[in-house]
Amino acid sequence: MSSWNAVVTGGAKGIGFAISEDLVSRGFNVVITGRDSAALDAAVQRLKESNPKVSVTGKVMDVRDLDSITTTFAEIGEQFESLSALVNCAGIVIREDMETVSDDTWLTVINTNLTGAFRCSKAALPLLKSAPAGASIVNISSIAGTLGIAGRTSYTASKAGLEGLTRTMALELAEFGIRVNGVAPGWTRTEMVDRGINEGKIDHDHVSSRIALKRFAEPMEIATVVNFLNSDEASYITGQTIVVDGGITINGNT
Ligand SMILES: NC(=O)c1ccc[n+]([C@@H]2O[C@H](COP(=O)([O-])OP(=O)(O)OC[C@H]3O[C@@H](n4cnc5c(N)ncnc54)[C@H](O)[C@@H]3O)[C@@H](O)[C@H]2O)c1
Repeated sequence: MSSWNAVVTGGAKGIGFAISEDLVSRGFNVVITGRDSAALDAAVQRLKESNPKVSVTGKVMDVRDLDSITTTFAEIGEQFESLSALVNCAGIVIREDMETVSDDTWLTVINTNLTGAFRCSKAALPLLKSAPAGASIVNISSIAGTLGIAGRTSYTASKAGLEGLTRTMALELAEFGIRVNGVAPGWTRTEMVDRGINEGKIDHDHVSSRIALKRFAEPMEIATVVNFLNSDEASYITGQTIVVDGGITINGNT
């Protein structure tokens, strides 16, 4: 069995699943976590079929729940002596503006996207420190981490916070051989975005027209950049959040 072990939160669907699929193809043993056990089972099955030589495990873990995180990483510590990669991908978007967003909604989004990544990184730390050839954390941010987007108050705040956390963890964890980076995807075809399109909250054609490459990303186009950061090829990159957005944030055209 491979000695490269990775955890992907939110790994059963969307971008997290693509990251897991790519890790498995690179020979990593992968633990995917999520809230929905049926979705986890289906994802584990597909990942096992794509590379029967590695170990794939699914674990129910809610990233808003510290006890759930503590228990899950203790179990992962029984399974593996070390972790080479942690990808904090679990995330939600609730589209409400600052004036109307409730305190509960605000906290749900911050607790999932920001506090969840902090807690998982902290819980994974002893295992990451034990990785013989160094380890990598990648936090999945968003172009909303640097842009203001009306109607995404809690989401933009959570992702901006995540990019700050990325920089400071990179400084604090470098002495342990742990690199910490982020990837900030632009518009990517997953359930999260399809829901927004179906609910009429995202105008697909208008957004596409603003993207230099004139299309949304496929999840695998984000995953390969995440796993480049997890690889030795990125051995001198830490504290950065790489934007993968098809050229929407460089578009100053009116
Ligand atoms: N799709 C996009 O256009 C886009 C763009 C920028 C950033 N992102 C980010 O990428 C990440 C993945 O998003 P996606 O588009 O694949 O969405 P998705 O809805 O398809 O997947 C999100 C995953 O996170 C999990 N999750 C949500 N809340 C959780 C919780 N409390 N505990 C555990 N797991 C939880 C879900 O179960 C799901 O597996 C998110 O962090 C999102 O903010 C997505």
